[in-house]
Amino acid sequence: MHEEIQHPCVQHKLAIIRDVETGHKRFRELATEITQFVCYEALKQLKTREVKVQTPVAEASCRKIDTDIVVVPILRAGVGMLDGILDLLPTARVGFVGLYRDEETAQPVSYYDRLPPQTRGGTCIIIDPMLATGGSTNAAIDLLKQSGATDIVVVCIVTCPEGLAAVEKEHPDVTVYTASVDERLNERKYIVPGLGDAGDRLFGTSA
Ligand code: PRP
Ligand code: URA
Repeated sequence: MHEEIQHPCVQHKLAIIRDVETGHKRFRELATEITQFVCYEALKQLKTREVKVQTPVAEASCRKIDTDIVVVPILRAGVGMLDGILDLLPTARVGFVGLYRDEETAQPVSYYDRLPPQTRGGTCIIIDPMLATGGSTNAAIDLLKQSGATDIVVVCIVTCPEGLAAVEKEHPDVTVYTASVDERLNERKYIVPGLGDAGDRLFGTSA
């Protein structure tokens, strides 16, 4: 299952982040801003519990978030979304999954993971700007499930039908939230039109 956030504020920022002329400073700012909008939608199903709060006038019946939240950026580009989601969820724990895509095969290669124990029983939110073939996202979901996670959502900035189908096939219980479902993958397994190599654009490492 997936949800595309078509709000004009998100689409406006997406138009700027896609632009080849947008430099890494602005790219990073936009990644943070878009992440906040998409996460806002993704978090709407979080469990809450009733709490009583004394206002200056009377007792109010309020709701507070009632689940351990673990945010899991896929290194390296997922780090570019971390500040945005932590602004919304300042007490969230953070686990890291290190994966890169082999340039020849486009298969994910795992090089690091460090997850907090609260993945078991909590809500895990995987963040990565690009969900292309879906290989990296599926590998991160596999790892989280092996660590005991049962409630997992994915937040990305851009994806495509091929990647969504791959995640849906392997993990039909996981919902993907995105700012855009683009047209397709090209022969190099890049998203078209996409925004290029997200890690390079975020961190200024392109040639
Ligand atoms: C990019 C991106 C995803 C992955 C998506 O990372 O950030 O993790 O590719 O592709 P997939 O859906 O086909 O697996 P990359 O491998 O370029 O590593 P980086 O973040 O370190 O630059
Ligand atoms: N990784 C990226 O950074 N961009 C793509 O389009 C595909 C994979």
